[in-house]
Amino acid sequence: MPFLLSEAVDADFDRLMEIQFAAFGQTGDSPREPFMDWIYPNADTPSGKAAARDRTLKSLRSDHTATFLKVTNTDTGDIIGGAKWNVYEKKPEPKRVEVNSFEGEEREYAELVLGVFYRRRHEHVTADGPYLFLDIMFTDPKHQRRGVGTKLLKWGVERADEMGVEILLEATQFGRHMYEQNGFRVTEHVVVQVPDKWAYKPTLQYFIMRRPPVEKVHLG
Ligand SMILES: CC(C)(COP(=O)(O)OP(=O)(O)OC[C@H]1O[C@@H](n2cnc3c(N)ncnc32)[C@H](O)[C@@H]1OP(=O)(O)O)[C@@H](O)C(=O)NCCC(=O)NCCS
Repeated sequence: MPFLLSEAVDADFDRLMEIQFAAFGQTGDSPREPFMDWIYPNADTPSGKAAARDRTLKSLRSDHTATFLKVTNTDTGDIIGGAKWNVYEKKPEPKRVEVNSFEGEEREYAELVLGVFYRRRHEHVTADGPYLFLDIMFTDPKHQRRGVGTKLLKWGVERADEMGVEILLEATQFGRHMYEQNGFRVTEHVVVQVPDKWAYKPTLQYFIMRRPPVEKVHLG
C-alpha cells in the first residue's frame, strides 16, 4: 500500500480527530485511555469531535514549535495516521492543569493524574538546548502494523539526527516496541499512584522514553 507523509492542513483535522479517538479508544481487554476524555470531553459526539478539532487547530496556531503530520494512502486518498511533533529550542514552561469539563471527585482525580503526567514530562527534560518531543501519534486501527507509525516516527528521528539532539516521548504499551526498534530506551515506567479512595479505578501506567543524540562525526 503506498503511503505518503506530509504536513496536515486545516481541512484534514475532522478525519485526524476521528482516527485519533478510534486509536486511543478501547482496545481488546484494555480500558479506554481516560486521558483523551479529560483533554477532549465527549469526543464520541459530533459536537465533542468538532470542539476537539477546533482546540487542536487553535493550539497549533499559537505554537511555532509544532508540526502536525499525516499519512495518506495514495490509492484511496484516505488519511490513515497522524502525529504531532514539537521541535523545542529550550525547555518549555510547565503546563498548567485544569479539567473544566468534569466536576467534583472526577475532576479531582483527573487533575491529580494529569498533574503527575505533566510534572514527570517536565522533569524528564534534561537538555539545556534544543530537543524533539513526540506529543501524539496514532494510526487508524484498520491500518495498524503496516508501517504507518514507523513513517511518522522517522520524520522526527531524521530531524533529531540532523540537529544532533535527543528525542523525548511518552509511550503506551502499544507504541513501546516500535520506539525500541528505532533506538529509544525506557527512562521511567510511570505507574500513577492515587489515594486509596480511587483504588477501584484501573491503574494508569506508561513509559517515558528517550533517544539520545547521535554524535556527528566531522571528517577532514
Ligand atoms: C502505536 C501505533 C501508532 C503504531 O502504529 P502502526 O502504524 O501500527 O505502527 P507500525 O506498523 O509502524 O508498527 C511498528 C511496530 O509497532 C509494534 N506494534 C504496532 N502495533 C502493535 C500491536 N497492536 N501490538 C503489538 N505491537 C504492535 C510492532 O512492533 C510493529 O512492528 P512489526 O509489525 O514489525 O512487529 C498504533 O498502534 C496506535 O495508534 N496505537 C494506539 C494509540 C497509541 O498508543 N499511540 C502511541 C502513543 S505513544
